[in-house]
Amino acid sequence: MSAGEWETTADLVVVGSGVAGLTAALAARRRGLRVLVVTKDVPDAGSTRWAQGGIAVVLGDVAGDSVDAHLADTLAAGGGLVDARAAAEILAAGPRAVTGLRAEGAVFDGPAARLARTREGGHSALRVVHAGGDATGAEVERALLAAGDRAGLTVLAGHAASSVLTGPDGSVQGLEVRDADGRAGRLAAPAVLLATGGVGGLYETTTNPDVATADGWALALRAGATLADVEFVQFHPTALFTGRGRPGRAPLVTEALRGEGAVLRDTTGASVTAGVHPLGDLAPRDVVATAITRRIAALGVDHVWLDATGVPDVVARFPTVAASCAAIGVDLARDPVPVRPAAHYSCGGVVTDTHGRTGVPGLWAAGEVARTGLHGANRLASNSLLEGLVVGRRAADDVARALAGPRRLAEPTETHARPVPVADRAVLRAALTRSAGIGRDAAGLAAASDAVEAASTLRLPVTRAETEDAALTLAAHALLAAAGSRTETRGCHVRTDHPATDDHWQRASSTVALDPDGRLHVGTTDARHGGVA
Ligand code: SIN
Repeated sequence: MSAGEWETTADLVVVGSGVAGLTAALAARRRGLRVLVVTKDVPDAGSTRWAQGGIAVVLGDVAGDSVDAHLADTLAAGGGLVDARAAAEILAAGPRAVTGLRAEGAVFDGPAARLARTREGGHSALRVVHAGGDATGAEVERALLAAGDRAGLTVLAGHAASSVLTGPDGSVQGLEVRDADGRAGRLAAPAVLLATGGVGGLYETTTNPDVATADGWALALRAGATLADVEFVQFHPTALFTGRGRPGRAPLVTEALRGEGAVLRDTTGASVTAGVHPLGDLAPRDVVATAITRRIAALGVDHVWLDATGVPDVVARFPTVAASCAAIGVDLARDPVPVRPAAHYSCGGVVTDTHGRTGVPGLWAAGEVARTGLHGANRLASNSLLEGLVVGRRAADDVARALAGPRRLAEPTETHARPVPVADRAVLRAALTRSAGIGRDAAGLAAASDAVEAASTLRLPVTRAETEDAALTLAAHALLAAAGSRTETRGCHVRTDHPATDDHWQRASSTVALDPDGRLHVGTTDARHGGVA
């Protein structure tokens, strides 16, 4: 180690402090493991806190609903690419996961014996439990952080993960981190779990917080793991339109508003989804987002309207949305709300099984960073918090099992610390926003790739900002390569040069891997395998 560096040891290092990371860390700690949670910002800076609608789960007390119905809705939303076996396992584990979260102290709306439910796009039943009206993620995050405090969980805040350390056989030996001043630290551990969240930072306008800069994709690729389905970026249909030329975080306007009766209208007053899908405004998210995008383009306007004035007690039921609206002078109870789609969720990610296991020994991933096969080409609303809870817990159990046998930490031979292409994130965001949104074509995707490459210089990332820029650059190339390879329209996106769905791609997931020379390789795998590449 060079001067100024420090080192510590743990059994498990968890990167990220959202629902998946904290769930895993708590479970592992209770199994007696020495756990260290690393987060580059403050612990509640991630996407979990911003989740509004709720957690989709079948608790057995809603007449006519069942886990099979939840699975059928998940499969229908996922455009043929959901791994049915993985989805069935995750959804069936949902009730226990939610019960466990309540035992940690999370309080949901409604009587404790029969929680309130709402509905969101693509769901055939009222099955979404929620907290604080539309502040579900904030309650989940609060409860898990409080439980972590009680359990004595160690959280290393303000440290960005720069590299997964691997040994001579390619297995994980720990994590390199850097503090705000770029000083390096080494966390020696036989197990690392990536729970770094999403990639909204690839786009100019996103519902994600600033920390969503694809860090986990980059860490995983450089450690030898494979990504899948990364072309499927889900655009939330209704992000608040706060004004022209105002990029950055766009406050979410939860789909649950439509579940409670709000309606979408264009600027002429016509329904946006009439005749588009039998479920109308409650069609799956990809359908509604595409319909809005088309209407905005056809009318040459910036937004459509969401009219929630007919929703009973709307301000009390949706206080978070009401506050965001009030900040731009809109009264949710009286005024229609200007909305448009914004980058929201990555349906693909690091290939894992339903225990979070990647193809790299010692590396697990859970939550939005991972691709278990639950979401396919388009995630069903409110399945993400559930997946984080279920797979976070299972990953911890799997790590505990893996570490129960004899283990040996080898001196890491590969820190993966070398100069890498780093592009200016503003250039990269402009390119992806222009060419890798809901509508895309081969020429635009290639031009975006060229623009990112032209804006890149080789640098050894040291600061958090440089580390994020390097991650965004690699992630942009991975997404653009996967998107270019999928010559059909499916799920979250419309290929304007291939407007039909192609049977050739019916069960094929795209994959992306990085070779030791830094070249990306795009392939395909059977989406139903679900297992680890
Ligand atoms: C929403 O509340 O509309 C978002 C929920 C989700 O992304 O699943």
